[in-house]
Amino acid sequence: MPISHAPRRQQFLQALGGAAAVIPAALAQRHHADVEFPFRQDSDFWYLTGFDEPGAVALFLPHRPENPFVLFVAAKDPLVEVWDGCRWGTEGAVAEFGADLAHPLDQLEELLPQYLQGAEALCFRVGRHPQVEPLLLKLWADQLDRAPRRGSGADRLLAPCPLLHALRLRKEPAELERLRLAAQISAEAHELARAMVRPGVNEAEVRAKIKGHFLARGSRGFAYPSIVAGGDNACILHYTANNAPLRDGDLLLIDAGCSLSDHYNGDITRTFPVNGRFSGEQRALYDLVLAAQLAALAQVQPGHTAEQVHDTAVRVLVEGLCSLGLLQGSVDGLVEQGAYRHLYMHRTGHWLGLDVHDVGAYRLGEHPVTLEPGMVLTVEPGLYVSDRLPVPEGQPAIDDRWKGIGIRIEDDVAVLPGGAEVLTAAALKAPSAMERQL
Ligand code: GLY
Ligand code: MN
Ligand code: MN
Repeated sequence: MPISHAPRRQQFLQALGGAAAVIPAALAQRHHADVEFPFRQDSDFWYLTGFDEPGAVALFLPHRPENPFVLFVAAKDPLVEVWDGCRWGTEGAVAEFGADLAHPLDQLEELLPQYLQGAEALCFRVGRHPQVEPLLLKLWADQLDRAPRRGSGADRLLAPCPLLHALRLRKEPAELERLRLAAQISAEAHELARAMVRPGVNEAEVRAKIKGHFLARGSRGFAYPSIVAGGDNACILHYTANNAPLRDGDLLLIDAGCSLSDHYNGDITRTFPVNGRFSGEQRALYDLVLAAQLAALAQVQPGHTAEQVHDTAVRVLVEGLCSLGLLQGSVDGLVEQGAYRHLYMHRTGHWLGLDVHDVGAYRLGEHPVTLEPGMVLTVEPGLYVSDRLPVPEGQPAIDDRWKGIGIRIEDDVAVLPGGAEVLTAAALKAPSAMERQL
């Protein structure tokens, strides 16, 4: 079931009412001198167009129903293409990407006013697109100047995010298929990584194995800076140096997921012993994180909220930490005061889609967003025991035997009618699977 961008454009055009939207592509990012980073398209632009070139601009014009989708793209130019590769040009934009009309980018300034003339409002994300924003604001200012005489002109500037991100939050069946594949490839890489780990192997070698699998399976590579963190490195939440030798007796935390050619992402974390055997303390904390994760996963179902998922994980963790003597006091009080945050300092998950930390509101005003079929989120509780954060007053000092243990278990979950599907189940997590049979 291929991804089709046209129905999304129809939905977006309908949601716009009488407003005209200007949605720019991402720009190429400079690495150094005249060298650029690999191009990453803007996810809103990609969602609506599937067009993978930098600098383009898409117009959505419900007030021009005969040609509501207009693309401005880089013109074909053999001299540039010989360096940077083939461009689609205006003909390709129409023939391959369904634009009703297409123009070279250098005509944007000249043509934008006539295309936006007659729209009731302009829909554009300010603060993100420095090349398009001055054109758009000048055009709007001109319309406002003329409005008293003409009696027409856009009177509001709207953000596209509430409309567009509400669409992106609810995945279509074809998107769920892609997320299943991203999860599957990501899970395979975790299985390969665990099989190669021994004391003395470097974090970088494990990372290379994972990246090799992602590329061999046809994905673009890492969906985000992966974390391959032995021992205490796992207590640095965004550890990305990934270059230390793995030590006998430590755990290894791997947070890695692939990004497919069309940007759908996996995001998986697994933690296991480098030498194939948990110590008593490691096993106790692993069992606790797994219990929290399973309890939180069970909360992923239509009608519940991401907040319930998080609160469930926190409660299980806090109860377990009290049993292990790492916290003391009433569970309700500890949860309310956040007295666990020196051991668990992040949220339990996020939306997942074209972006790893995907768009979509978590709250609307006072109300947490209710989970609905088609929403996809991660469930990723953890525990990180180190000296870095102060122990809250009244809580027990941490014995050295617990320190340097960082554990997270992260799965990707799709909300389905009547339940949920763990997309990443092929990455094992049972304690017995995390140990190596000697
Ligand atoms: N590594 C990014 C995340 O798990 O959210
Ligand atoms: Mn992750
Ligand atoms: Mn995540």
